[in-house]
Amino acid sequence: MTQKAERQVYLNGQWVNESAAKVSISDRGFTAGDGVYEAIRTFRHKPFRLDDHLERLCNSLRVARIDPRLSMEQMKAIVLEAIERNRPLFDADDDFKIYPTITRGLSMKAGSPATVIFAPRSISWGEFGRHYATGAHIVTTSVRKQPPECYDAKVKSTSRFHHTLADIEAALVDPEAYCLMLGMDGNVAENRSSNICIVRKGRIETPSPMHCLRGITTEVVFELASKLGIPAVEKDIQMYDVINADEVFLTATSFCALPVTRANGQTICGGKAPGPVTQRILDAFSDLAGVDVVEQATRRAARAKEKVLANAA
Ligand SMILES: Cc1ncc(COP(=O)(O)O)c(C=O)c1O
Repeated sequence: MTQKAERQVYLNGQWVNESAAKVSISDRGFTAGDGVYEAIRTFRHKPFRLDDHLERLCNSLRVARIDPRLSMEQMKAIVLEAIERNRPLFDADDDFKIYPTITRGLSMKAGSPATVIFAPRSISWGEFGRHYATGAHIVTTSVRKQPPECYDAKVKSTSRFHHTLADIEAALVDPEAYCLMLGMDGNVAENRSSNICIVRKGRIETPSPMHCLRGITTEVVFELASKLGIPAVEKDIQMYDVINADEVFLTATSFCALPVTRANGQTICGGKAPGPVTQRILDAFSDLAGVDVVEQATRRAARAKEKVLANAA
């Protein structure tokens, strides 16, 4: 029997098979959630907004005071190599992500080496592919986004405990729902791994990155909106605004812009997905990426479902 090729992971200067990529149980990434990361996706197996992701990674590292002992150029070369090494494992019409994860390593002592990982991951098409047509659900949780007095939400930290608790809580209320965390001031913040935009009277609005990660996808949405002549602003948003919005969509590297039609059990946006502005943004995103993002996600989600059914049979 021929052995299935394994995914290749960069771990502390070496390329290894994923199953051989081992990190110490004393690593602070594991014991303390003490690290930062990025998620870079491909379109047609080419990285999208690589420089922006690496710049955000370097900014996160600086604030975390973690030294990866790699320049941005070196990190860029590693991401490109990770894509080249792993792309034969993905279908030509599929795409994937590269996750750089950099933890403080074994010790908080100055000069102690960081743990540096660049690993490929599949895109979870099955989780969101159907939502372009049906609309995703959101549920606000008792778990709030950490305030900037704790640490800045613009840092993409591996510490995700409150995000996880929020997600579990939301799923108990509505198994289909994404959590939507509010800030301590009651303003809308973000989901565990996406930002939120609303459309009111033809204008896109998103919370300022005071209480959320500055999403690279949201930045792309703002660029596209500017080209399309759609006004877009950052401002404080409350659930009142979400419930009364003409359109609501979530933004993230994996799904670009995902329409939302239900909030806290209530139908919003007339239950219609996607709304006209969201549709224009999705079309422009597809043009920019060179991939029909909705068609690809819908097709890959259907294929993932078929696989699950075939395995269960
Ligand atoms: C907490 C959080 N908010 C928002 C986002 C969306 O950011 P991006 O558009 O850069 O993927 C992410 C991405 O993983 C995230 O983790």
